[in-house]
Amino acid sequence: AVTRHYKFDIRMKSVTRLCHSKSIVTVNGKFPGPKIIAREGDNVVIKVTNNVQNNISLHWHGIRQLQSGWADGPAYVTQCPIQTGQSYVYNFTITGQRGTLFWHAHISWLRSTVYGPMVILPKRNVPYPFPKPHKEIPIIFGEWFNADTEAIINQALQTGGGPNVSDAYTFNGLPGPLYNCSSKDTFKLSVEPGKTYLLRLINAALNDDLFFSIANHSLTVVEADAVYVKPFQTDTLLITPGQTTNVLLRTQPTFPNATFLMAARPYATGLGTFDNSTVAGVVEYYKQPSSSSSISVNIPPPKKLPLFKPTLPALNDTSFATNFSSRLRSLATPQFPANVPQTVDKRFFFTVGLGTNPCPGNACQGPNGTKFAASINNVSFVQPTTALLQAHFFGQSKGVYTTDFPSNPPFQFDYTGNIPPNNTMVDNETKVVVLPFNARVELVMQDTSILGAESHPLHLHGFNFFVVGQGFGNFDKKKDPPKFNLVDPVERNTVGVPSGGWVAIRFLADNPGVWFMHCHLEVHTSWGLKMAWVVLDGKLPNQKLPPPPSDLPKC
Ligand code: C2O
Repeated sequence: AVTRHYKFDIRMKSVTRLCHSKSIVTVNGKFPGPKIIAREGDNVVIKVTNNVQNNISLHWHGIRQLQSGWADGPAYVTQCPIQTGQSYVYNFTITGQRGTLFWHAHISWLRSTVYGPMVILPKRNVPYPFPKPHKEIPIIFGEWFNADTEAIINQALQTGGGPNVSDAYTFNGLPGPLYNCSSKDTFKLSVEPGKTYLLRLINAALNDDLFFSIANHSLTVVEADAVYVKPFQTDTLLITPGQTTNVLLRTQPTFPNATFLMAARPYATGLGTFDNSTVAGVVEYYKQPSSSSSISVNIPPPKKLPLFKPTLPALNDTSFATNFSSRLRSLATPQFPANVPQTVDKRFFFTVGLGTNPCPGNACQGPNGTKFAASINNVSFVQPTTALLQAHFFGQSKGVYTTDFPSNPPFQFDYTGNIPPNNTMVDNETKVVVLPFNARVELVMQDTSILGAESHPLHLHGFNFFVVGQGFGNFDKKKDPPKFNLVDPVERNTVGVPSGGWVAIRFLADNPGVWFMHCHLEVHTSWGLKMAWVVLDGKLPNQKLPPPPSDLPKC
């Protein structure tokens, strides 16, 4: 294992897409940001310097941060933001993980432009549990807004109106040829015939689950959220924001007389407004010259080949989505076991959904005198003005957060009994759940889908969890648990809570610190669909959170 040093300079850069230029926040002037590459076991040290007017913090999405919670990054949860002119060094060791993850800004909506791939290779001389690919290519999905995203979210929070939708989706920052004024900004995947490529797919979009497909090519899924899965073939994938998926692409055996598009567009069950456009990229075949000449030249294909486009599921194809997620299973082999907690110490039932603020004294300015909120157990999380982790570590939680989440009695939701608007009013509070070290936790998340149906990609910091069950309608606490998969459930860090349904997860609380959990649809996070877990120290020295680094930013 080695230490890998990175310097991330947060600076403005003018970028043009769709014939529209704007100055955006970037890392090192790059959009998308630089790739981090490391091996399992490596120590990664990233010095972040803020040279823009906005406060910033960065999050290493999916990295477990064992005993390094100070490096996790969500603003006001594990740290105060890095202010203009200041620096912070994120220092963590990658323990027991290998695969594709990503990093992104974790404050306001800055992750719309501040994000990049993280590739964690296996330890040296440890092979993949699948055929060695000829090449590996990260493809990070994003969203491009012509408008300034900070202005969009500020307005959405003040007026309660839905935010402007994006103007395009992107592959590695490029919208592609299906948008106006965009064909020169097209992602090109150059391949040779008869080879296997590993595509590292990352959904860094702000607000939409995405279907992805490549015309006339089938894909083999081998990994989700940096955990190997039992390989399976599919023409189309579904990836929610916050999820990553590795697939093997086997190219056609001989040079094809055609050009193929890859494309992504949303899976959206809601009636609300969303960007229903399609990003496309091109798969370009190159023939290596067959001569034994020592000069290797790529011969481009002849121009004007017929163009094939992939067929993507309908925007609201929930049966595809359900079927796809049920196919994801852990490898569960002796080398890569699925350590699913077989028994449970702490059980939780959380409702997740959209709601409204009560708005005392008619203070709300939104449509019809309401203001959008989103909540867990009808608690809409209020961001504190100092970091939760600091408050916890120094025993100064008073006035920062309370530990009575879920509220007492916990909010019970029932599709057959609850009707709006009575069950949509939220409390605005900063509440956490405290867990003893090594608690085996089961959490059922029930979607309430009353104000606009939408599935919620719930992301948990600091842990991977096992998705032991999912279903539609009300969760039945007698009938459903016996059907849980405790053998080979998929292990991941982000799961879609199906619209009109529920999902059950289990995890071992073996990581002391404060861990954020939130919907990875940025607009829902902004409206309060978030909470935090406090995991106490264990007794042994290696079960305790060390003190903060001396350069930890102050609020
Ligand atoms: Cu990818 Cu809390 O984030």
